[in-house]
Amino acid sequence: METTQKRSSFTGKIGFVMAAAGSAVGLGNIWRFPYLAAEYGGGIFLLVYIILSITLGFALMCGEIALGRRTGLSAIGAFQKLNKKYSFIGILASIVPMMILPYYSVIGGWVCKYLTMFISGNGGATVNGTYFEGFIGGTAEPIGWFLLFLGITALVVLFGVEKGIERVSKIMMPVLVALTIGIAIYVLTLDNAMEGVKYYLYPDFSKFSFNTVLAAMGQLFYSMSLAMGIMITYGSYMKKDVNLESSVHQIELFDTGIAFLAGLMIIPAVFSLGGGEENLGKGAGLMFVTLPKVFDNFTGGEVVGAVFFLLVLFAALTSSISLFETVVSVLSDKFKWKRKWICLTVFLGSTAVGIPCSLGHGIWSAVSVPKVNGGSMTILDMFDFASNSVLMPIVALCTCIFIGYVIKPQTIIQEIEIASTFKMKKMFSFIIRYVAPVCIILILGFSVLEAVGIITV
Ligand code: PHE
Repeated sequence: METTQKRSSFTGKIGFVMAAAGSAVGLGNIWRFPYLAAEYGGGIFLLVYIILSITLGFALMCGEIALGRRTGLSAIGAFQKLNKKYSFIGILASIVPMMILPYYSVIGGWVCKYLTMFISGNGGATVNGTYFEGFIGGTAEPIGWFLLFLGITALVVLFGVEKGIERVSKIMMPVLVALTIGIAIYVLTLDNAMEGVKYYLYPDFSKFSFNTVLAAMGQLFYSMSLAMGIMITYGSYMKKDVNLESSVHQIELFDTGIAFLAGLMIIPAVFSLGGGEENLGKGAGLMFVTLPKVFDNFTGGEVVGAVFFLLVLFAALTSSISLFETVVSVLSDKFKWKRKWICLTVFLGSTAVGIPCSLGHGIWSAVSVPKVNGGSMTILDMFDFASNSVLMPIVALCTCIFIGYVIKPQTIIQEIEIASTFKMKKMFSFIIRYVAPVCIILILGFSVLEAVGIITV
């Protein structure tokens, strides 16, 4: 006979906040936020981002965590339990982490490789010409690093919510904050750094446009790990007496704080190389090509480089753990197998998808999707696009409609008020019902047009 297992939980508020913040703070904060902020008007981007975070982001995050805590289930079960007709939202939400985990781990593998290079004193070698392309274009090597990263993730998840995830997050997150502050201070002492600070923070109103808001919104959903069932799953492990509203504020503070500090460390560092703006490429190039050059240029850079990649590794690991756990939790709600078999299944499934993502930069690079403007997407880009730009906004929109019109905001408010009064409940209902759906439709429309190359945002 199947006995109902007691659901695992975080021990208390700190454990919950550290784990959820661990999920939120990831590669997106470190390489994407600084670039976007610099590109879209510095100080004003920051301001727009903060406003969106405490309104839109706040409402959606409260909604998702409360859905999880109320039902005690992960995404599929949560929607199903509240209204059978809408379980498809849970299914869609659960597909997102399954798509992100493999390619996120491929990038995590690259971080492991760079960390070892810097620790072993070979950081200088990564600076040579096409080192990065050469490495990711390889066959066995990047796959090996990918498996290592995925393996570590699986191991932490195997230990469970409290003994694995909570424990690891409680160590890694404070260390991450300390390292980020440390490197930012070091970078600010470099020549030319102040030019970079000015570029990053000075509000340039001429760069403010509709696109600024759009870019900030897109970044916000991804950065707060919304619309993929993660916060529902973590909410289902949250105890009823924990103050949900203030936990969300703390997670936001963590997420935005680290993103802000990452900018303060990366942009001045790039400026100190000389040249400035044009070196601030988007994405992988910035982290794996430009920054190693910066580290190579200064005394003590090898050590700072190692510390930097350690920090990035922690950020990436706590995020991949949340992705892995979400998939595990969906499967275990459904199949009730032993945790170790589920972990093994998720590991093998992600390996099967991750290997093509890795090979897409090398021997399988011919497999790509053409864009309207003549560019093309690699396999990794395709997964990134399908999950972040298409599925996530759809799930976010459905979630808002579900909360706003099907179960009604009151259901969420009641859940939050179990522990304490919900101070922002009026704002919450208004945003979920009216503001968020409109914003999300805009993001969806524009990101699809951009990805196929019709517009450039
Ligand atoms: N929120 C993470 C970041 O900012 C990204 C992430 C997305 C993490 C999806 C987990 C799941 O990088």
